[in-house]
Amino acid sequence: MTYKKHLITAALPYVNNIPHIGNFVGSILPADIYARFKRAKYGAQNVLFACGADAHGSPIVIQAKKEGVSPAELVAKYHALHAKIFSEFNISFDGGYGTTNSDAQKKLVHELFTALDNNGFIEERETVQPYSVDDDMWLADRPIEGTCPKCNYECARGDQCDKCNELLDPADLINPYAADSGSRNIEMRKTKNLFYRHDKVKDDVKKWVNDTAENNWSKYATQATKKYLGEDVPNPSVTRDLPWGIPVNKPGYENKVFYVWFDAPWGYISISQSARADWADFWHAGTDCHYAQFLGKDNIKFHALFFPGQEIAWADGNFKKVDLLKGLAFLNFEGAKISKSNNHGIFLDDALTDAPADAWRYALIASAPETDDTDFTIRRFADIVNKDLNGVLGNFVSRVCKLTEKNFGLVVPTKEQGTGTGDLEKNINDKLAELTDALEKCEFRKSVATLREIWGAGNKFLDETAPWTLIKNGDMDAAGAVLNECFGLIDFYARISAPFIPTTTEKMQNIFTTTNHEHDLSWPTEYEHRIKDGTEFVVPENLFVRIDDDKTNEMTEKYTGKK
Ligand code: 2FM
Ligand code: ZN
Repeated sequence: MTYKKHLITAALPYVNNIPHIGNFVGSILPADIYARFKRAKYGAQNVLFACGADAHGSPIVIQAKKEGVSPAELVAKYHALHAKIFSEFNISFDGGYGTTNSDAQKKLVHELFTALDNNGFIEERETVQPYSVDDDMWLADRPIEGTCPKCNYECARGDQCDKCNELLDPADLINPYAADSGSRNIEMRKTKNLFYRHDKVKDDVKKWVNDTAENNWSKYATQATKKYLGEDVPNPSVTRDLPWGIPVNKPGYENKVFYVWFDAPWGYISISQSARADWADFWHAGTDCHYAQFLGKDNIKFHALFFPGQEIAWADGNFKKVDLLKGLAFLNFEGAKISKSNNHGIFLDDALTDAPADAWRYALIASAPETDDTDFTIRRFADIVNKDLNGVLGNFVSRVCKLTEKNFGLVVPTKEQGTGTGDLEKNINDKLAELTDALEKCEFRKSVATLREIWGAGNKFLDETAPWTLIKNGDMDAAGAVLNECFGLIDFYARISAPFIPTTTEKMQNIFTTTNHEHDLSWPTEYEHRIKDGTEFVVPENLFVRIDDDKTNEMTEKYTGKK
């Protein structure tokens, strides 16, 4: 199936803290790599990548209290900080890093509520809810945590246990505490809220998942979703007692706001509306548009069941439903959960002091928790930087440029007529097809492994043809032809590596100072040698810096809080 338009969203992070590498690799980084790939393949105008701040919810209110500022001030501060951090990591959001703190969001959520209320999908209920006395705040299912009754994990959330993945009710939790403040002074109190009648669209959602998910969604997301579909998922509350958020547009609910699942996913649409005048060409394009969502496993239920269910319930809204749901597991660090309070983990405001963005982007996506929770270590990071980036790619570029400069000067030597490249071209084309397929399917670890093999083919070609020996034997034409081919590879590598390491690929392209070749980074369908004979070049600084043992130890101590 071919699509005209490509819509991409990443889960909207709460803007109450500094994102860490686990947050980053769990949604925004893979979404960016995918968006860059899609732009290169289908043209930038056909791709819309929307993301931004989830500006509402109890995490914001609690952090604002801690910092002694208003929620609005907190959101403004962290929104700016997130935007700066993501731009330093070269995340290519269309229209910048958006926010749900906008008039567009309020208007959309109010329209959604009115439509669902009119269509009979909203009911009022009095329930008993946990209330944090010390925080003076109601705790809906996620802001409350405690011990899982099924597996005894001590940090299970009120709606779901991240260890055994069981769906829970806050009342099931043993020793509950407020997730954000840690207070255990919890009372169960009566309150009235509005509930979304998911039961009424359940069968439609099931049918849609079966038709859609079977071939397209990541295995992990499909498995999790099938499990939810087989369970009795309770109708979720869409309102909550909180002083900050989208006000509920129904009399009697003046002091309540909409709950995250009636707010955040709709931010994908309102952020798109603010980002691009042609947003409707994506969101209302039906089967002309392919929609991929990126999110962590704690958000799968809401994206696989509730958001599409609401879209079905608001039939007239005619909004695009997800085609490819990429749900990722969690990234741990050095054997434990990443935690700011334990000073354990790599936070994005700090990471760039130790290594450039491309090193993190590449090493993290190579370690993406695609099938299960994954442990990331500094040793692993150093190995990936040293072996793949420095040892394979960087080394190839450096060898080619230096050998050529020494023997031919700073111009690309002539490609002799009829010089064969052996299996090089065929090997690369086979691998390119694999790489393209892996990226289309969002199989990131596989895509990185294939990319590395394509880079490795350059070194193998160089070793087998040994131009230094040809030079020693006086066969300058043959040596020149080999090096000419290698410059073609450098340009080709820049094209296929750009989604992963965009800054480095720019450096690779800037090696060529004569502009007699195509500088564009369109996605190739086959290996193309675009560098013309006689193109001038410069020898670049090393593309990557090795991370030695001292630095590895220093970073390990720093990020595990030992220093
Ligand atoms: O869980 C979270 O991080 C929330 N901010 C919701 C993210 S998903 C959403 F954007 F739909
Ligand atoms: Zn559990």
